[in-house]
Amino acid sequence: MRKFLLIVALSMVSFPTLHADEGMWLPSLIKERIQDLRKKGFRLSAEDIYSINKASMKDAIVHFGGGCTGEVISDKGLIITNHHCGFESIQSHSSVEHDYLRDGFWAMKMEEELPNDNLSVKFLVRMEDVTGKVLKSYNNKMTEEERKMIIARNSAGIIKEVTKGTTYDATIESLYYGNQYFLFVYETFYDVRLVGAPPSSIGKFGGDTDNWMWPRHTGDFSIFRIYADKDNKPAKYSESNVPYKPKKHFSISTKGVKEGDFTMVYGFPGRTQEYLMSKAVSYISDISNPHKIRLRTLRLETQKSYMEKDQAVRIMYASKNANVANAWKKWQGEAGGIKRLGIIERKRDYERRFNIWAENRPEYRGVISGLDSLYVLLEPYSFANDYNNEAIKSNEIITFAGTVLSYIKNEDGKFLISNRDTLRVIMEDFYKDYSPAIDKACFISLLGEYRKNIEAKFQPGYFKAKISEFGGTEGFADYLFNNSILVSKSAGMSILENTTDLSSLFKDPAVEMFLAFTDIYSKSIKPEYTRINNEITLLYRIYMKGQMEFSSDRTFYPDANSTLRIAYGKICGYSPADAVYYKPSSTLEGIIEKDNPLIYDYNIPQKMREVYKNQDFGPWGSNGSVPVCFLADNHTSGGNSGSPVINKKGELIGINFDRVWEGTMSDVAFDPEMCRNISLDIRYVLFIIDRYANANWLIEEMDLNK
Ligand code: ARG
Ligand code: ASP
Repeated sequence: MRKFLLIVALSMVSFPTLHADEGMWLPSLIKERIQDLRKKGFRLSAEDIYSINKASMKDAIVHFGGGCTGEVISDKGLIITNHHCGFESIQSHSSVEHDYLRDGFWAMKMEEELPNDNLSVKFLVRMEDVTGKVLKSYNNKMTEEERKMIIARNSAGIIKEVTKGTTYDATIESLYYGNQYFLFVYETFYDVRLVGAPPSSIGKFGGDTDNWMWPRHTGDFSIFRIYADKDNKPAKYSESNVPYKPKKHFSISTKGVKEGDFTMVYGFPGRTQEYLMSKAVSYISDISNPHKIRLRTLRLETQKSYMEKDQAVRIMYASKNANVANAWKKWQGEAGGIKRLGIIERKRDYERRFNIWAENRPEYRGVISGLDSLYVLLEPYSFANDYNNEAIKSNEIITFAGTVLSYIKNEDGKFLISNRDTLRVIMEDFYKDYSPAIDKACFISLLGEYRKNIEAKFQPGYFKAKISEFGGTEGFADYLFNNSILVSKSAGMSILENTTDLSSLFKDPAVEMFLAFTDIYSKSIKPEYTRINNEITLLYRIYMKGQMEFSSDRTFYPDANSTLRIAYGKICGYSPADAVYYKPSSTLEGIIEKDNPLIYDYNIPQKMREVYKNQDFGPWGSNGSVPVCFLADNHTSGGNSGSPVINKKGELIGINFDRVWEGTMSDVAFDPEMCRNISLDIRYVLFIIDRYANANWLIEEMDLNK
């Protein structure tokens, strides 16, 4: 009994402990964990995952467009990612005549592939711990400012040296709040062409209704191809470019997956904060998330009420609405998960024990209370910052006014447009998808909330004066939307004809609003917000180091920061509520069950119904249906979308695209019971390419293993 108690006590000391399958590991250090991977079923070596001496998996993975992941699936530079990651490219090629979002797009030969101006992908060439070099000539008697200068100078030197005479670019990233620095060397390719995408009714099937949810049936994929110059080097788009010959591409397993199988997700997660203080977590779950959710609910309800009434408006606001809804839904799951797990209480308890441990360790004594008081100081600024993002910048007309202003230059006292052609494109783009009625209705509710919830000292004088002049937010909105030249397209675009002086623009109420809020933000919010945050970061550096000593039996992994990471685990279902168990795979049957021509999110293409009726699933079928999605307990985050899901033999079995709602707090705390990533089964991808799109020439390029 005594011994048992001791074990319990010891195991509690190390909270937050590392749970099974938690962690986003650095590829170059995966050799330290390879035994664990192999214990869980992986058959290959650490060198197969990451190597600088031979082609390895990392050479088949790209950071796609800066925010997603993609992987190479043929020796001709074919890459696959999510539909929602390719969305902007697909949209940019779409018009009323060729609506690729609605109907899908399939090149039937290479000449038909579509180039994309603003899309690039980058491969990780290598990574390296450069902490010593980055901190060279630093000593801990120096101030933070001096430290920063030294880091910047050393980093610039390292980057210059490693990229000299190459086509590479490089960054140095801080890990563990500045306790470690890593160099990442990349090769970026700029000619990336759209090859294929299913219609949104497949690629976004279930829409926002099913987003962040299981059971899921979204065919969330799109296909691109990397082009290079004749020497296989990165080049801007040119007709003479040729398909890129990768060092490595994934072969695809069509054998199928089952519960318990080993899975690995290899990609670029964006941002996680697993080592936050209880105070910071309670700010997120008790204050920030509820307010942000409420502000977005107001926008979503307004958008929805207009979208329901008018088909054209529905199309216009589809993408904006999806973006607003995505984080809105995630935050709700996150707040729920933090409560359910009792994260705040558990962290408080951990901090209390850390404090006791730190009592006779001068380096760490006081770090918790220091952080605590800084968070108290930070809170009003964080709150104002949140409102600036969610209630000010989210007003389309205000942000648009700021964009237009950024194209106005002062030339000898006259205000002129600096780059007319670009501004024209931007303005066209804005008006294409702009409804003043929606924006005005949102403006009224968002600014109403701003007035109510934000301290008077953070409200610009201009705004307060207008509110009293017009008797409230509604009166002010009437005035602004009736008088701003930017509200209507014809009036707005007319500024492009002005070649003499645009100074009157500065009297435009939308511009005045933009300037008033920018001014108060940059004078009264940002400086303190930044200053306190800098102090917090400094203390976290110490707290993080302390945690590593205090919980010396725990294996730490650095928070995600958009660098390449490995998560591994297994295919498994979960139990979201009492008496409910979710199986880990979904099938075509579920799509047919959900299919409903009257519900936008569930209206599948007619051709899909026919393909289903014929029951001719070919090699992609399994047990009389086609597998669509599956769940696993890999630790992923935003940015992991499009990541390869890899089996024990290193073959591609799926494409990661989402997480389940009950587990979205994994960015703050991972719960092995509830945290599941959602992947698209590669067999569904092949089924769509083959049976739905008849684009078999793409499958012929791939290496399929049965
Ligand atoms: N939830 C996924 C992610 O965070 C998919 C988002 C795209 N889909 C959508 N319905 N908005 O990115
Ligand atoms: N859907 C996310 C993405 O776009 C992935 C996630 O948050 O799990 O990266």
